Amino acid sequence: MSVGVRVLGIETSCDETAAAIVARDAGGRGSILSSIVRSQLEEHAPFGGVVPELAARAHVSHLDRIIARAVAAAGLQLREVDAIAATAGPGLIGGVLVGLTTAKALAAALGKPLLAINHLEAHALTARLTDGIGFPYLMLLVSGGHSQFVLVRGVGDYQRWGTTIDDALGEAFDKVAKLLGLGVPGGPQVERLARGGDPHRFALPRPLLNQDRLDFSFSGLKTAVRLAAEAAAPLSEKDAADIAASFQRTVAEIVSARARAALVRLRAELPDAIPRLVVAGGVAANLEIAAALRQVTAAAGAELIVPPIPLCTDNGAMVAWAGAERLGLGAGDGLDFSARARWPLDSADMGIGHAA
Ligand code: KG4
Ligand code: ZN
Repeated sequence: MSVGVRVLGIETSCDETAAAIVARDAGGRGSILSSIVRSQLEEHAPFGGVVPELAARAHVSHLDRIIARAVAAAGLQLREVDAIAATAGPGLIGGVLVGLTTAKALAAALGKPLLAINHLEAHALTARLTDGIGFPYLMLLVSGGHSQFVLVRGVGDYQRWGTTIDDALGEAFDKVAKLLGLGVPGGPQVERLARGGDPHRFALPRPLLNQDRLDFSFSGLKTAVRLAAEAAAPLSEKDAADIAASFQRTVAEIVSARARAALVRLRAELPDAIPRLVVAGGVAANLEIAAALRQVTAAAGAELIVPPIPLCTDNGAMVAWAGAERLGLGAGDGLDFSARARWPLDSADMGIGHAA
């Protein structure tokens, strides 16, 4: 592989402090030279959720060291990096500021371009790093903060087809876990408990499913789980497992139904495109949901792409890769680029050369 460009990527928008070096050759192929992720799970565990102020402080404490480790693990010196990319939003603003400000300082000191990356774009482009796929494709992002379908037409060219109108799917898993007295992060714990449970014992609602739209709603489902748990209280081990299994089955059915409808729309609107569904976000680790998506895509004659889980969850490599893709198109951002708590993927300024 020709050397091409090597980009440092920094991710601090939630509770992972991450840095990575990614290379992109002249042909557009990528490789990960290093990727370091430090989770703040333990700092937030006593509070049952991510505390923004604590997250920002932990990023401040650890980011410099994580960057140094990523550069060393890639066998490079900092000055050999061609550009600095950092998540500039959306996310917890204190954390985003830590990463973006660090990236600006490095870019200024080293005289290298800065790339202010939309975190959702980083998730959206990861499958091009891992699987080298072309555009367009459909992405389903299901994480602790987001649940959306996005048509990815090109770098900077996104169309959101549906989103959650209340809770994100990972958030719903986390809340159900809390309700059942499980630890954090909730998703894996609910999945583990569900393995021994009866997925048909509790009939739970599927909000919005009878409507002709690609949006999600999980808050009613979460309330129904709470009511079921209260009605069955005190919960035996078996009751808790049955609730977890019933919740997970219902969620898998909701996600499948939505994915099926999204693939129908993809075929209708882009009949000449190879039908592809890319999954991103921590919930992609859920085996029942992944199996349901495999079934739906196979039935629709579509390809399902699930990047390796450490690249589905938050990491620096996806940010570095998005930076490398943008750099390859001549993009760069000013040192006055402001961090953003909110930054929808389909906003007008996502195009190449977006202004501060
Ligand atoms: O993408 P991610 O690591 O972080 C962001 O939210 O950005 O996603 C974390 C979310 C958490 O809500 C976690 O409970 C959920 O993904 N999750 C899972 C599983 N593993 C992680 N949900 C269901 N099943 C899992 N196996
Ligand atoms: Zn994320």
